[in-house]
Order: sequence, then C-alpha cells, then structure tokens
Amino acid sequence: MVIDQERTRVIHRDMHADLPIVERGEGIYLFDEDGNRYIDGSGGSSAVTAIGHGVPEVVDAITEQLSKIACSPTHAFSTRAVEECAQLIVEEFSPEGFGKVWFVSGGSEAVENAIKMAIQYHRDRGNGTRHMIIGRWGSYHGGSFATLAAGGNAARRAKYAPNLMHTEHIPACHAYRSQCNRNGSECDLSCAHQLEYVIKQVGADNVAAFVAEPVVGATLGASPASDGYFQTIREICDRYGVLFIADEVMSGFGRTGMKMGIDHWGVKPDLIATAKGISGGYTPLGAVITSPEIVGEVRQRGASFVIGHTASGNPLSCATGVAVMRYILDNNLIENARDTGAYFQQSLRQLMERHEIIGDVRGIGLLAGVELVADRATKTPFPVELRVSKQISLETQSRGLISYPLQGSADGVSGDHILYAPPLIITRGQVDDLVSVLDESLTAISPKLMAYVS
Ligand SMILES: Cc1ncc(COP(=O)(O)O)c(C=O)c1O
Repeated sequence: MVIDQERTRVIHRDMHADLPIVERGEGIYLFDEDGNRYIDGSGGSSAVTAIGHGVPEVVDAITEQLSKIACSPTHAFSTRAVEECAQLIVEEFSPEGFGKVWFVSGGSEAVENAIKMAIQYHRDRGNGTRHMIIGRWGSYHGGSFATLAAGGNAARRAKYAPNLMHTEHIPACHAYRSQCNRNGSECDLSCAHQLEYVIKQVGADNVAAFVAEPVVGATLGASPASDGYFQTIREICDRYGVLFIADEVMSGFGRTGMKMGIDHWGVKPDLIATAKGISGGYTPLGAVITSPEIVGEVRQRGASFVIGHTASGNPLSCATGVAVMRYILDNNLIENARDTGAYFQQSLRQLMERHEIIGDVRGIGLLAGVELVADRATKTPFPVELRVSKQISLETQSRGLISYPLQGSADGVSGDHILYAPPLIITRGQVDDLVSVLDESLTAISPKLMAYVS
C-alpha cells in the first residue's frame, strides 16, 4: 500500500511519488507495512544510517538518557552526555590537535555555524573585512540560505538564486568531467589553483573561509579529489590567511574507510562540519569540530561565539552519538568500510562490463557513485526529462534495493547518477546481493532507455 498524495496531510519531499510506508529496520534492511524487504543501499536518504537499524546498544543508551534528562537549559548547565560526546569526537575521530566541539542538529546547521565561527574568528581578531566565503561548483553544503549560497548545486540553488548572499565559487576537482585541464587526461591541480586566482580577484582581506567536501557526495556522486589537491588548497589558504572548512557531513565517521574523509589526503582543516553518521540517524545531531586556535582567539578576548539553536547540545542526541560512535569503534566499522568498501567499489566497476550505460563508477570506501550516460565514449548524458536515475531507483526499489537518484553531475543540470552509501556493517555477501539487484534492474531498464536516445 502506498500513501495517497491527495489525502495525506504531509508535505513530502516528492509530492507526486507513490511512497510505501516503512515500518521497521533491522541491520541493513528496511521493511514496509506489506512485509517487503529492502536493502538500505543509500543509508537513509544518503549516508546517514552508519551502523544499520535497530542496534540494541543504541536503543538502550537512548532509553537510559531519556529516563534521566532529554533536554536541558544549555545556558545554565552542561550535561554528562554532551561532555562525553565531545570528548569521544576529539579523541577518536578528529585530526591530531583538534580541541573542541560545538553541537547542532544537522548538516546545514553544522556548515552554517562553521561559516559563522570563521567570520567571527576573523572579526574578533580585528580583520572585520574578511566576510566572504568561497565554495565550489558541484557541491552541496545544505539547504539554509548561507549553505545553499556557499554550495554549488545548480538545481537546488536555482529557485532561490536572487536571495543568496554573495559567495564566490571555483570548479570542483572532478576527475570524470574535469572543468580544468580539459586537454589533458590527468588532473593537473589547476582546479586547486583557481582558489588562489579567485582570492586575488576579490582581495584576500575580504575572504573568511573556503569550504569543500573532501569527497563530493550528492551533487557529483561520490567524487574524491585528486592526489595533491587538498595539500595545494591548504597551502593556498595558509598563504592568504583563509580558513579551510571541511564539510564531512557525508564523508565523516568512517564512511570512506578513514575517520574523516580529509584524512585520505593527510591535510588538517581549521574547522570540520559533521552530521549524519555521527548519530547514525537514530536522533538528529550535527557538530562543528575546531582547531584550538579558532576557539582560543575568541575566548581570550572574553567573547563567546554568537551562535545557538534550541537543539544545540541536546543531551538525548549526544547520548545517541556516544553510543553510535562507540559501536563504530567496538565493531571495527571503519576497517569494514575500507575493506568491504574496496570490494563494493570493485563489484560496481565490474558492472561496467555488462552495462554500457554506466559511464563511471567512483568513490571511496562505502560511499560510491554510479554515473549513467547515453554514450560512454563521448560521456553524453541522457536527456534531463528522461529522469534516468529516478527510473533506475524505482526499478531497484521494486526489486528490494533503495538507491539515491540524483541529476546534475555533467553540468549542474544534466547528468544522471546514483549514490550508494550502505550501513558500515554491510558484509561482502550483502554487497553481492545489492550489486546483483542493481545488475538485474539495469538489464531490465536499459533497452527502454537506449531506445529513447537512439
Ligand atoms: C556534504 C553535505 N553537507 C551538508 C548537508 C546538509 O545536511 P542536512 O541535510 O542534515 O541539513 C548535506 C546533506 O545531504 C551534505 O551531504
């Protein structure tokens, strides 16, 4: 049974979709009210359900915290839960030397607050002109106005473009469809050097921070940076006194086989924005992790950050975060993301031999993207109106696999891709099941799609 979009009182993300009602989850599986089972292939809508569904340790931790205190006046108290959660993040998941954590309720708030903290850091040091954020095209940092502005997801920005604050953008580092070095087959890091060019154009004294996803998630379908990219970004930021914010909302907490995505490049950002995997979707939680200098500069002047939300430092969510992070550590899930993730990437890549419509498979660990093309040799995307990724995701869902369908990976508008981010507990056998459902789905749907474009 699916919900009736005419009668429901809920405004759904897709107000035209036939949505079944999911009743419960167990491990990597979801079950709907009719008893159908689905692999949670995209991990919630994307990269949220880090440790799978129904983990008893997390349910117990939440119940225990609920019975003690669920919400506290944060202007008047701290809680054991928030203190413990920050300590675990700093000691077990952050780059060496990182010192403090600010808690929020999700990814947009985390990135937005990181931006505000960067601006206040400069302002409190007497550099009040440093107000501007530089982001990248082909990125997503959230749905609030500031994060939409800093992000470069053309489709999600379009309807609000006139309302967005002024930000500058450089091209993404995207190996499959590089906007830089168009004549060469290898990335020559000219995309990273664009940052220096833009800083010079707008004046370094005006720039507060540069923000980037270490592995671009939704917008480009799990596109990791080239070797040397983030080292070059770090050098440029240091040269011009610009802070580097790493958006680890998708790539953090073991998803890519390292604690944080940026660890693959051995680079330390100044601020890290996180959410999703930190609490595995059990309760809403996000966090900004900072180097001690950022906090020190503000605190030594007797100030505090002028940020705050009702759910900042919510004890229930922080207790959930502690339980989820402990589960990740105790069950070696970062290692599993690395090993099973490599197997997953390889299995997806093997599908290219059987399916001409797969143009590219990319990603790291258990964050993977599959780009669909009408012509592999020329990388020609399918027409936008064909909604190829959506059609494929409906096909996989009908066969028991949830895929996350997206568009815009070719030029911001066209280009269909599917994102996979299964829970970090997934086994090789379950990867085989996931990939074989995708295989069957592509076999079923490809002739129809190719007939449309031939
Ligand atoms: C990289 C990245 N940053 C920020 C966000 C925004 O997070 P939220 O949807 O929790 O506000 C997302 C959401 O998908 C994301 O993928």
